[in-house]
Amino acid sequence: MRKLSLLALAISMSATAIAAPKPNEPIQPIEPYEVTDAAKVELGKQLFFDPRLSKSGFISCNSCHNLSMGGSDNLPTSIGHNWQEGPINSPTVLNSSYNIAQFWDGRVADLQEQAGGPIENPLEMGFTHELAVDVVSSIPQYVQSFKNVYNVDKITINEVTNAIAEFEKTLVTPNSPFDQWLKGDTEAITAEQKAGYQLFKEVGCTACHSGPAVGANTFQKMGLFEDYKTNNPAEGVAGLTGEDTDRFKFKVPTLRNVELTYPYFHDGAYWQLEEAVDVMARLQLGRKLESEQISQITAFLKSLTGEQPSFTMPLLPPSTAETPLPEPFVKKAKE
Ligand code: HEC
Ligand code: HEC
Repeated sequence: MRKLSLLALAISMSATAIAAPKPNEPIQPIEPYEVTDAAKVELGKQLFFDPRLSKSGFISCNSCHNLSMGGSDNLPTSIGHNWQEGPINSPTVLNSSYNIAQFWDGRVADLQEQAGGPIENPLEMGFTHELAVDVVSSIPQYVQSFKNVYNVDKITINEVTNAIAEFEKTLVTPNSPFDQWLKGDTEAITAEQKAGYQLFKEVGCTACHSGPAVGANTFQKMGLFEDYKTNNPAEGVAGLTGEDTDRFKFKVPTLRNVELTYPYFHDGAYWQLEEAVDVMARLQLGRKLESEQISQITAFLKSLTGEQPSFTMPLLPPSTAETPLPEPFVKKAKE
């Protein structure tokens, strides 16, 4: 019955280049996020943009997950507190609610648990949870917002990270040309992109990059057919388990918005998407692709760029006399 009506729909709409949706593809569309608690999301947005959650008063979540640049920082590895070079490439926060777990090695389960990490990471925001809570608690507008949203008089790090996670869940990117094509608009992607998608499936990319996020749902070894050569010391999942079989196993990154999130791989070593496609085909599938095939797959990957989050910039309430002062630089001992 359902098949019949889909067929009828396809026939009746063929004149406008709209065909039936494609439910059996290895990739599914990203759906818009329905906000249920707008006040919580707004508070989380403020905190995501507030650099006062860092020791320097200079670094916010948005510094390394810039929502104007695909939710990443477009650097090989991030710059953190006191200009320190971070150990690993900053993944995008866009569609991060689809991740099987957070971080390249999946060491934390969810977005709320994740959000506490960077605040007290000495290489990132360089702060402590206590001081971050002291900062928000010293600002009457924040105190009022936390009271409205969580019904608490005393703010703890749990409410801070919960609000940030709630905001992050809204950072989905639906309606990419590819999703429009999946939903039945046969003209939404170009002939080159269609050819690229066929290849993407045929050569076996979908073995690891599938589902709504086109990845993010398994951990896989980087370098199956050839070793991946890098100076970056990250060990992947082996860093947590100590198991040799987990060496170089990383969470498969999402390929949603991948055109925006260069440079690529956990060490950020490749700036061009074409290079990343070539490396993947050789190292993960043992295949040397022709340059035309690489162009086609790259064109397909660009059809995964969805609608970027758009919102009013949050206004952050001013500090007060009680707010701990920022310490932008580590004081050097006098010579
Ligand atoms: C100094 C740069 C920096 C700052 C500031 C920063 N992050 Fe990150 N973020 C990173 C890096 C680098 C990683 C990857 C670390 C790893 O996997 O070991 C990461 C990982 C993540 C992830 C996991 C994404 C994934 O695909 O696994 C999320 C979510 C995230 N950060 C959110 C936040 C939030 C929320 C804040 C603010 C509280 C924040 N980040 C502050 C650099 C930063
Ligand atoms: C066996 C699993 C596997 C297969 C097959 C695979 N990938 Fe990957 N892909 C990964 C893993 C794991 C990473 C992360 C590696 C790293 O950062 O060191 C990755 C990363 C990428 C990246 C970089 C994303 C980023 O944000 O840094 C791109 C682009 C990519 N893959 C495209 C492809 C294409 C195109 C194919 C097919 C030619 C493919 N992959 C096949 C597992 C796979």
